[in-house]
Amino acid sequence: MTPSSCAISLQGIHYAFAGNTVLNALDLKVESGEVVALLGPSGCGKSTLLKLLAGLLQPQRGEIYFGSQRVASANSMLPPEQRDLGMVFQDYALWPHMSVAQNVDFPLRMRKIPLSERQLRVRTALDRVGLTEMANRKPSDLSGGQQQRVALARAIVAGPQILLFDEPLSNLDSELRETLCREIAGLLRQSGTTAVYVTHDRHEAELLADRIVHLSFGAVSAIRTVTSSSGKST
Ligand SMILES: Nc1ncnc2c1ncn2[C@@H]1O[C@H](COP(=O)(O)OP(=O)(O)OP(=O)(O)O)[C@@H](O)[C@H]1O
Ligand SMILES: [Mg+2]
Repeated sequence: MTPSSCAISLQGIHYAFAGNTVLNALDLKVESGEVVALLGPSGCGKSTLLKLLAGLLQPQRGEIYFGSQRVASANSMLPPEQRDLGMVFQDYALWPHMSVAQNVDFPLRMRKIPLSERQLRVRTALDRVGLTEMANRKPSDLSGGQQQRVALARAIVAGPQILLFDEPLSNLDSELRETLCREIAGLLRQSGTTAVYVTHDRHEAELLADRIVHLSFGAVSAIRTVTSSSGKST
């Protein structure tokens, strides 16, 4: 596969925090529209890998391509806001002083999209996550599951090419996890967005992903294609 034939290509990635190597000669390709779940023991570098993709960290060796565009190497770095991606974190990371609608609107304001289009897109995104009625509430007046839906709406509102998830459901109870996991799987399938989804939960990975990638000792140790009987296409 050439870099341009897939949505994401990581080639020979090396990353160390103050001399402690976390990722070493890591290679991974994600096809356009594919959902890859990233599993691995705590501390193996899953979040570090997502931060490299997001542009929050720069690799010390290797290259990252989105399509045919090189977005990062040891000498070059495209900033996060120019990478056309959305992120959903474990702790929701909502702005506490903004309403639900203002939180979801934030990426559109950053992109200087006209107000009328922003209003329409915010309404559509809130509708897709079932939060239309709560547009004017503050995040503190929502349950954990509802807050994570806001974060999801904010990640998808600008229609990014790539979505990155870092254990988005691990703060929720198991029933809600399953429901939201199925909703995220549906959203990803509907939009055809390429996604990398970090989780500790094999069941979540099976529900969502086309492929499950295991990380250990700083590199990909195994890749498994999820069959249609257990995977998201059921
Ligand atoms: N800012 C930092 N400074 C120094 N070391 C760090 C920093 N962030 C992460 N690390 C270290 O890098 C390694 C990988 O961390 P990372 O957060 O990527 O792991 P993870 O696979 O996401 O773990 P978890 O499953 O617990 O979230 C860990 O040993 C961690 O202690
Ligand atoms: Mg992590």
